[in-house]
Amino acid sequence: MLGALLTGGLALLFPILLTQPLALAATQGSCAAVVSYLLRDPVWWLPIHLGFMPLAVLALGLGLPSWVWLAGFIVLLLVFWRTDRSRVPLYLTNTASSEALLKLLPAAPCAAIDLGCGDGGLLRRLALARPDCRFVGFEHAPLTWAWARLACRGLPNVQIRFGDFWSHPLGDYALVYAFLSPIPMQGLWAKARAEMKADARLVSNSFAVPNIQPESTVTVTDGRQTRLYCYRPGLGTRTYR
Ligand SMILES: C[S@@+](CC[C@H](N)C(=O)[O-])C[C@H]1O[C@@H](n2cnc3c(N)ncnc32)[C@H](O)[C@@H]1O
Repeated sequence: MLGALLTGGLALLFPILLTQPLALAATQGSCAAVVSYLLRDPVWWLPIHLGFMPLAVLALGLGLPSWVWLAGFIVLLLVFWRTDRSRVPLYLTNTASSEALLKLLPAAPCAAIDLGCGDGGLLRRLALARPDCRFVGFEHAPLTWAWARLACRGLPNVQIRFGDFWSHPLGDYALVYAFLSPIPMQGLWAKARAEMKADARLVSNSFAVPNIQPESTVTVTDGRQTRLYCYRPGLGTRTYR
């Protein structure tokens, strides 16, 4: 919004911009990126702001038939589903983090769940490494779920389920894994506290539970220094402010 207002101001000062759609789009992208920087948004927003409008203008210039846009919209909808409601987009656990997660699984055979399992790649890696354990993944985005089913086909110790993980009880699992976003963490903590067994572990990739001291934190040796926050929600916990 602020970016658009700034762009409007610049277009009033430099009316030539109104005759150059790509230059106008680049100005809008730059203004949005500056505003985002000043508002201290996470740094990955910057290339999104910079590139979105110019790419949209370039794509319009391709003169594609309208059904292509509709098809693209439907594919994105089936992959990202209700991101507006869940506030959890799709990004995937990398191999280094999966290796770290493997070490957090109990040595004895057990069950583990990935809340929002994405393309199923993580569960596939875990299931191949630990054939003695049972893995469950929940996914609510239809295309992503189908993709995960395909990725995990033939693995007898993986079950990919379609639906909302919030309505699935967590009492059976020794390890509950979440790679979500900051928004649902408070609610997830309440659910985990109510449902998980005393010795079960909740591991959250990148997003800590607000005001709760993790039992431990694992820093993964990958490019982004991924952090895995480990909790025992079923035990007494220390809160902090
Ligand atoms: C950040 S991705 C993580 C994917 C996977 N767990 C991984 O680590 O590679 C989060 C996934 O959770 C899914 N998701 C978000 N909210 C969900 C919900 N309430 N029930 C089921 N899936 C959900 C999203 O569609 C997305 O695929």
